[in-house]
Amino acid sequence: MKRLALILVTVFSAMFMLVGCCGVGAAPKKPLVVYYTWSTGENTKLVAETIQKKVNGDICEIKLVTPYPKDYSAVVSAGQADLKTNDKPALEKLPVDLADYDTVYVGSPIWFASYSSPLRAFLLKNDLSGKKVIPFCTYGNGGPGRFFDDVAKLCPNSTMVQGFSRAGAAAKDALEGEVSAWLEKNGLL
Ligand SMILES: Cc1cc2nc3c(=O)[nH]c(=O)nc-3n(C[C@H](O)[C@H](O)[C@H](O)COP(=O)(O)O)c2cc1C
Repeated sequence: MKRLALILVTVFSAMFMLVGCCGVGAAPKKPLVVYYTWSTGENTKLVAETIQKKVNGDICEIKLVTPYPKDYSAVVSAGQADLKTNDKPALEKLPVDLADYDTVYVGSPIWFASYSSPLRAFLLKNDLSGKKVIPFCTYGNGGPGRFFDDVAKLCPNSTMVQGFSRAGAAAKDALEGEVSAWLEKNGLL
């Protein structure tokens, strides 16, 4: 009888340790949606918020210490120049700890057929190794261009998932359905 009690105590202790140490049985971590948006239409922000609601995630915006000007020619010059450096633009500290997330959605408007300089700076600054990374973007007339390949190049040790893209000016009422279909197709819901 004593032996049986000892065995039971040992088995239960081992189970408690497994749950405590390894998170077995713990609730899955929330995904995080990180995005940059520049235009007054906030096209990428709208997609980011739609994803966040569908996946019940946390969300945060990539913000510049000194925001880009709102003038189109000025942002073209500044964005192009910053894409040639590895430390610009300077970003504000994120209000979340990336260590708390295993899945990170990363979104940007398309700039010069690829990511915007702020998303590039975010990916250069933050190591997303070992995480699931899911890119999304909005574009003008040119489509996503090299965006998905370029994001993957900056996340060499992440698991990349098929991303989402749409024209920024496309009908807003179709957005929810498009996002749901994409999330379902990729097993993200
Ligand atoms: C600096 C800059 C460069 C851009 N380059 C492209 C491009 O190469 N191809 C494209 O289709 N759209 C381009 N656009 C348009 C944006 O990608 C598009 O309007 C996007 O939906 C804006 O998203 P936002 O509202 O989140 O800033 C560019 C816009 C800016 C400001």
